[in-house]
Amino acid sequence: MGKKDMEREARLFQRFPTAKAYGEKIRPLLSEKRYRHSVNVAYEAVVLAERVGADVQKAAEAGILHDCMKDTPPLEQLAMVQRAGMHLTELELGAKKLYHAVSGTAYLKEVLHITDPEILNAVRYHTVGREGMTPLERVVFTADFVSADRDYPGVDRMRKKAETDLRAAMIEGLAFTIQDLTKQEVPVHPDTVAAYNWVLMHPEAFENTSAPSQEEG
Ligand SMILES: [Fe+2]
Ligand SMILES: [Fe+2]
Repeated sequence: MGKKDMEREARLFQRFPTAKAYGEKIRPLLSEKRYRHSVNVAYEAVVLAERVGADVQKAAEAGILHDCMKDTPPLEQLAMVQRAGMHLTELELGAKKLYHAVSGTAYLKEVLHITDPEILNAVRYHTVGREGMTPLERVVFTADFVSADRDYPGVDRMRKKAETDLRAAMIEGLAFTIQDLTKQEVPVHPDTVAAYNWVLMHPEAFENTSAPSQEEG
């Protein structure tokens, strides 16, 4: 773990003790790499939440928790989904990468006894998105694309977008997801298409959530 990672983690957990407590609870479920990613997403979600006026506390908690079931075997994930009385669609059942958003939400409900719908939905929709995403859902979704551990062509440009124009970053992220899936000729989740169309067609939904201008800062 790098020095910067440690500094980020210390700052995050000092400011948000509840996120620290959740981090300790889920750490045994995750590989070291995934745990690091989760800390980074929480950190970035707080930064973005501050910029757009979303709840920073919830951003830290949803961020640290968002991938909590991602390293759990698929069959165990399905059992957790069932235990919570939740369901996967036919498309979701056919895409193991999508299990963890639903099974993670199930874990939050069943094991951590989290009832806050905003946090539950931020985890539930962090992978596919959905129409009408709340500010908290938007920041967790976007933080997942731009967290410090991410390293893909164009990530720096994406980071700049996320910091200045969350809507533009979401459009790029959703478009990338759809392109990536169609290139592989695998199904695209209808919520992803709905999210993409909604973000494009409803700029007004983002009007009060733009970054403050430089002058004001
Ligand atoms: Fe995820
Ligand atoms: Fe993630």
